[in-house]
Amino acid sequence: MNEVDTANASKGEQHRVLSDVMRRRRSVRQFERGRKVSRDTLLSVAESARWAPTGANSQCWDLIIVDDPVVRDAVIDIFVEQSNRLFVKAKGFPAVSKAYLSNTVAIFIVVGDPRWKAAFPQHNEDAEGVDEYAANNENIYYCSLGAVIQNIQLAVTAQGLTSAWLSGGGEVSTNQALSELLGYPPYLSACGTIPVGYPKKDVRMRYRRPLEQLVHWNGYAATQFRPQRMLEHYLDRLRPFLMYRNTERIEDWEDAREKCGDWYDAFSSPEPNPSGQLE
Ligand SMILES: Cc1cc2nc3c(=O)[nH]c(=O)nc-3n(C[C@H](O)[C@H](O)[C@H](O)COP(=O)(O)O)c2cc1C
Repeated sequence: MNEVDTANASKGEQHRVLSDVMRRRRSVRQFERGRKVSRDTLLSVAESARWAPTGANSQCWDLIIVDDPVVRDAVIDIFVEQSNRLFVKAKGFPAVSKAYLSNTVAIFIVVGDPRWKAAFPQHNEDAEGVDEYAANNENIYYCSLGAVIQNIQLAVTAQGLTSAWLSGGGEVSTNQALSELLGYPPYLSACGTIPVGYPKKDVRMRYRRPLEQLVHWNGYAATQFRPQRMLEHYLDRLRPFLMYRNTERIEDWEDAREKCGDWYDAFSSPEPNPSGQLE
């Protein structure tokens, strides 16, 4: 939709178009072979990234776009090693091998620059009380990086492409390898890597909590609190299915009751904690 169309479209129509892109944005980890994408398209995605909000308008990141197949393959090798390390060092996390990246047409790498945290509120040396700003500087910084990555994924979706959001570049050894390959100072950090391509299969949906479960009107509803044992069940049993199954609602799984056990209602209903007790 160009600017003129946007100006003429009703607010409802604009939201519908935007919402549709947001719902279609998926983490897709398998791309079609042999496709290409123009630099104009990649730049139009970068332009959407440029408009992301950042704390204090610090724009605390740079964007490396990799579209040269040789550099791309070198980046992929680094991520294959990253996922191999994950299988050994973070056992239990349902990671998939990064070998799938081979058909990506381009890779966006968001490189965060932590020096720009200085732009956020700082505790004056002579101010009373504990420094409550330092920790929040971290929040502001990472939220700013999240916003740009989200903009990139949405723009990619709107262009008929698809992408994934890889966070492994934020791990020290992976970031070191990427900085050596791509030439950025190692104190910058590749917090978000977004391989882009044409989807090999249709991945439309993912589990989402019911809207009523996560919206709290005018205060926190204790019946919507997710108990610790629900989290434990997710970690023990459900995480890989919630991450990779192609459905929005758990109720649509044939084996939902078996997988969810006592937590079926908690994962599918508005109130995961009917007792209202906050554990
Ligand atoms: C901060 C963040 C880090 C993520 N890191 C990875 C990652 O390293 N590898 C990966 O395959 N997906 C990663 N994801 C994607 C999530 O697994 C994905 O968003 C989630 O399972 C929901 O699926 P959807 O994006 O298709 O809706 C990450 C997402 C976020 C927001």
